[in-house]
Amino acid sequence: MPKKLHLAWFLNFSSPSWLGPFDGTNGEDWIDGDFYVDIVRAMERAKFDYVMFEDSLMVSDVHGGSMATDLKYNMYAPKQDPLPLMAKLGEHTDRIGLVATASTSFYPPFILARLYATLDNLTHGRIGWNVVTSSEDLAAQNFGLDELYEHDQRYEMADEYVGVVKKLWDSWDEGALVRDRETGVFADHTKVHPIHHEGAFFKVRGPLNAMPGPQRQPALCQAGGSPRGRAFAAKHANTIICSATGVAEMKQYRDDIRQKAVTAGRNPDDIKVLYVVTPVLDETDELAQAKAARRAVPSDAGLELALAHLSALTNVDFTQFALDEVPPAITTNGHRTTLEAFLKKGKPDATLRELASMPSLNAVPFVGSPATVARQMEEVMEEVGGDGFLFSGALSRQSVAEIVDGLVPEMQRRGLARTEYEFGTFKENLLAF
Ligand SMILES: Cc1cc2nc3c(=O)[nH]c(=O)nc-3n(C[C@H](O)[C@H](O)[C@H](O)COP(=O)(O)O)c2cc1C
Repeated sequence: MPKKLHLAWFLNFSSPSWLGPFDGTNGEDWIDGDFYVDIVRAMERAKFDYVMFEDSLMVSDVHGGSMATDLKYNMYAPKQDPLPLMAKLGEHTDRIGLVATASTSFYPPFILARLYATLDNLTHGRIGWNVVTSSEDLAAQNFGLDELYEHDQRYEMADEYVGVVKKLWDSWDEGALVRDRETGVFADHTKVHPIHHEGAFFKVRGPLNAMPGPQRQPALCQAGGSPRGRAFAAKHANTIICSATGVAEMKQYRDDIRQKAVTAGRNPDDIKVLYVVTPVLDETDELAQAKAARRAVPSDAGLELALAHLSALTNVDFTQFALDEVPPAITTNGHRTTLEAFLKKGKPDATLRELASMPSLNAVPFVGSPATVARQMEEVMEEVGGDGFLFSGALSRQSVAEIVDGLVPEMQRRGLARTEYEFGTFKENLLAF
C-alpha cells in the first residue's frame, strides 16, 4: 500500500481568476467570501487537510515607483483580512483545517493569541496559524517603522513571540471552566495563570482573557526557506509549506527539516512537509500537454507580473535593470529564498527577460490526465519520502474541480489520499498518517 499524502491549497483573500471564459463572476463574489465558501467546501469533499490563506499588509509601489502594476493585476491589493473569513468558512464546513497567515512583526502577541484561540472555538478545533515574519518594508511603514527588522533578527523575535503565544494559550488549565450551578462559579481562578513573560523583545503579563479552543495550541504552519527560517520552522511547525524545485531539492529540504526537528528535540514525523505544485490536468495526456504548452508561451503581462512580484517581495525595483542583460548581484532583506530561486532558474548567462519568462516555482511540473498525474505524484513521493502537496496557481471553480473531482478521486483509488477524515480537529487529522 503506498504512503498516503496530505493535501492542501494555497489561497489568498483577493480575487481569483476573473478574465477567463469560465471564471464566472469571480471579480465580484469573492468580496463577501461566498466564492471561498464554494471552493473550500469542494476541497473538504476531497478530504483536504487544510486550506492556507496567505497575507501581506501593504499596497506595493516598489515596481517602477507606482501602485499601477499591483492594482492592475490585483497582485497584493485589494486583499482582505483572512481572519474573519476563517469564521465564515468554519460555519460552512465541518472538518477541513483553516489556516490564516499573521505576521509576528506586526501583531501584538496577546492580540494574536486571543484571535486564534477565539477562532479555534468558533471552528471547533480547526484553526491554524501560518507564522510569517513579513518581507516588505512597505508593510513596516504601516506600523511606525521605516523598514523591517533584519532578516535573521525577525526570526529571533518570532521565536520568542511564538513562545509567548503558546504560554498564553496554556494560561488556562484543562477544566478551568467549571460552570458549577451549585456554587455559582463560572471559571476557577486557581486554574488560570498569569505568564509574567519578560524577554528580549516582549513583555506580557497574561493570562489570556479568552479560553483556549479544542486544539488548545492551534496548528502552526511555516514556510522558512533560509537556514534560520528552517530552524524556526523545524522547532515550531506542525506543517511546513515549501517551494523547492525538483525531486533532489525537495528531498534535501525535508531531510534537513527532519534533522533540525531532531536537534530541537521533536519527533520529525510530527511535521508534515507539503510542496507547492501547479498540476496541468485535462482529459487525456495529449490535451494536458497542449494546455501546458499554451500556458508556457511568455507574454508581456506575464513578464511584467513576474518582475513586479519579485520587486514587491524583495523591496528592490526591478524596472531599474535592463531586460536583455544578465541581472547584477542583488541582495534583499525581504524574501531571500524567492530571490535566490528566481536567479538560479536559468543558466548563469540568462537575461532578466529569460528568467522572468520561465515558469514560476514548482516542485515538479506535473502534466497529464488525472491517472497520469496521480501516478507521477506517487513516484515523486516515493523518492522524497513524504508528506504531501500544496496546490496553487490560477484559481477558479473549474481549476478546483479538476483537482478535487478529477485528480483526488484518482489518488484515492490508488490509496494515495484519504477517503474520510479520521478525527474532528485539524491537528489530529494532520498527524493521522
Ligand atoms: C508557499 C509559501 C507561502 C508563503 N506565504 C507567506 C505569506 O502569506 N506571507 C508572508 O509574509 N510570507 C509568506 N511566505 C514567505 C515565507 O514566510 C518565508 O519568508 C519565505 O519562504 C522565505 O524564507 P526565509 O524567511 O527563511 O528567507 C510564504 C512562502 C511560501 C513558500
